[in-house]
Amino acid sequence: MLGLFRSRKSSREHWDQAYARGGPAGVGWYQTQPRISHELIAETGIGREARIIDVGGGASTLVDSLLDAGYQNVTVLDLSPQSITYAKERLGERAGKVTWIEADATTFRFQESVDLWHDRAVFHFLTDAADRQRYIEVLKQTLRPAGHLIISTFGPKAPPKCCNLPVMRYTSESLSQEFGEGFQLQSVREETHMTPTGVPQQFIYCRFRMKEGSGKNSARSGESADR
Ligand SMILES: C[S@@+](CC[C@H](N)C(=O)[O-])C[C@H]1O[C@@H](n2cnc3c(N)ncnc32)[C@H](O)[C@@H]1O
Repeated sequence: MLGLFRSRKSSREHWDQAYARGGPAGVGWYQTQPRISHELIAETGIGREARIIDVGGGASTLVDSLLDAGYQNVTVLDLSPQSITYAKERLGERAGKVTWIEADATTFRFQESVDLWHDRAVFHFLTDAADRQRYIEVLKQTLRPAGHLIISTFGPKAPPKCCNLPVMRYTSESLSQEFGEGFQLQSVREETHMTPTGVPQQFIYCRFRMKEGSGKNSARSGESADR
C-alpha cells in the first residue's frame, strides 16, 4: 500500500515537474489545435449536453475547443495539479464551466457515467498489464452503455519514450485487442505530431463504441445524450 502511494506520488511529481519545466505550451505533446480529437468527437454525433471526460487532459486545449463548440458538460481529469492550474489560468472565467478532477485514471471511482471518454497520450504510459487492466475496469464502470471511447497513443514508428518514460506503441489492431470484444472500432486516424524541439512522433487515434451490455454501469440512469 505504501509502495503504491509512493509510486503514485512520484508519478504526480514527474508530471508536475514536466509541466513546470516546459510551461503549458512547451511540453512535447502540446497542440495548438487538437484537430483530430475534435473531429472524432464530432463524428460520434453526441449532443452538446453529452457528458465528456478528457482523461489525462492536463493542460490540453481540447477543453477550450469543446467549450467553443458549445459542449456544456466537460470534465478534465489529471494526475498533475500543475497541469490543471495551467488549464484553468488559460480559460479564465470559463474554467468555472468545467469539472476538474485531480486523480489517477487507473483507480478513480466516478460518481456519474459519461457518454464519451477521450484519452490522448495517457494509456500508452501504462506499460504494466495490471495497470492497463485497472484502467479498462474504470473505463467500463464509467462509460454508459453504447458510450464512445476515443483513444490516441504512440504508433509503431514513434519513439520508445515520451516525456522520458517508456511507452507502449500500438496499431489500431493491437489497441482493439487491448480493449477487447466489448469495444467496436469505428474509425482510425494517424498523425505525425512535431514536438516543440522538432521531433516527429507518430500518433494513432481510434474511435470505439462500447457494445451494449459490455460495461459495468448498465444499471445507472440518465443515459444517452446522443443519437
Ligand atoms: C503526454 S501528457 C498528454 C496530455 C493531454 N492529453 C494532451 O494531449 O495534451 C500525459 C498526461 O497524462 C497525465 N497522466 C499520466 N498518468 C496519469 C494517470 N494515471 N491518471 C491521470 N492522468 C495521468 C499527465 O499528468 C499528463 O497531463
